[in-house]
Amino acid sequence: MTAIPSTSALLAGGCHDAALLNDWHVVAVSADIVAGQLYPLTLLERDLVAWRDESGVAHVWEDLCIHRGSRLSLGQIHNDKVVCPYHGWNYDRTAQCVLIPAAPSETPPKKARAITHQTRERYGLVWASLGTPEHDIPAYPEWDDPSYKKVICGPYTFRSGYRAVENFFDPTHFPFVHPGVNGILDQPDPIPPYDVQEGPEGLATSEVRVTQPYGDPRNIPVIAYYAYKCLRPLVSYFKKRVVIADPASPLQGSPDDRFCTFFTAQMVSPTESIVRIVCAMNFDPEPTDAEVRARQDLVYAQDSGIVDTQRPERIPVDLRLDFHHRTDLLSVKYRAWMRDLGVTYGTADV
Ligand code: FES
Ligand SMILES: [Fe+2]
Repeated sequence: MTAIPSTSALLAGGCHDAALLNDWHVVAVSADIVAGQLYPLTLLERDLVAWRDESGVAHVWEDLCIHRGSRLSLGQIHNDKVVCPYHGWNYDRTAQCVLIPAAPSETPPKKARAITHQTRERYGLVWASLGTPEHDIPAYPEWDDPSYKKVICGPYTFRSGYRAVENFFDPTHFPFVHPGVNGILDQPDPIPPYDVQEGPEGLATSEVRVTQPYGDPRNIPVIAYYAYKCLRPLVSYFKKRVVIADPASPLQGSPDDRFCTFFTAQMVSPTESIVRIVCAMNFDPEPTDAEVRARQDLVYAQDSGIVDTQRPERIPVDLRLDFHHRTDLLSVKYRAWMRDLGVTYGTADV
């Protein structure tokens, strides 16, 4: 007899890469998941719904009622239960259907359950996995360090999530895409050779030095030394050591000054992604949230203006495609690493 596929298997169009299905993905900012409201979202072409129960725990479920397949996100939350918009079935926070209004005196079958996904909150972000996570959510050490001010910025929309990641850790575009901000158009910094190490945390570079007219929210010229990490296919990070360029500047800074960015991309589909970043800085005096966001909004708008025009839209992980230079070392290692991880979804090689 042919096995009957489960509902979730029937819905499993889109991504089939274990490396992505069994990974954590950012799907929302925690502050956006408000008790009493259903929050529809899409991850890897799967329609999901997030909600927060009265105890404060966030949930991410398939946006689908197991009764007749309607969208739970069109329903409502009533008495801490998700109520389907079609026949009003009630699902409690464990995803169990606890009330079928057409048969109110009957206990719903045990199997009548919404389809849940593992959900966590970390760094002010909501993370979900469509499979069984093989890694913890990547570390962001500055998040727990009280000497750092943190600001969540975005969301910024990009087409390819991988191209957005690759752009995030590419310092050679600064003078051209961010002139007067991250680089100087007529004096691009030469990029000396740097190292890339691969380890359990992914890829990590040695420091890369660049001159930045408006390199951090203080809006003064700095010399910046970037150390990048590519933590997962759609999660990256840098820690940048910043030295105020003008010794006569009224702002003197400190040798310990750092500006960090934890970068996440939610792949909605191969050609639609949502970037959210968490900035952390230990400057004194602290910039305001508005100063931090203003600079990031400018930079990411400049980035998407170029990145969204790249072709092919789906990134090639076969290194014979595209032309690579030694200054693209991290990008080359990223593509090879993705290929080794078995990532094919949204790449040019499928
Ligand atoms: S489809 Fe949800 S209650 Fe019928
Ligand atoms: Fe950029």
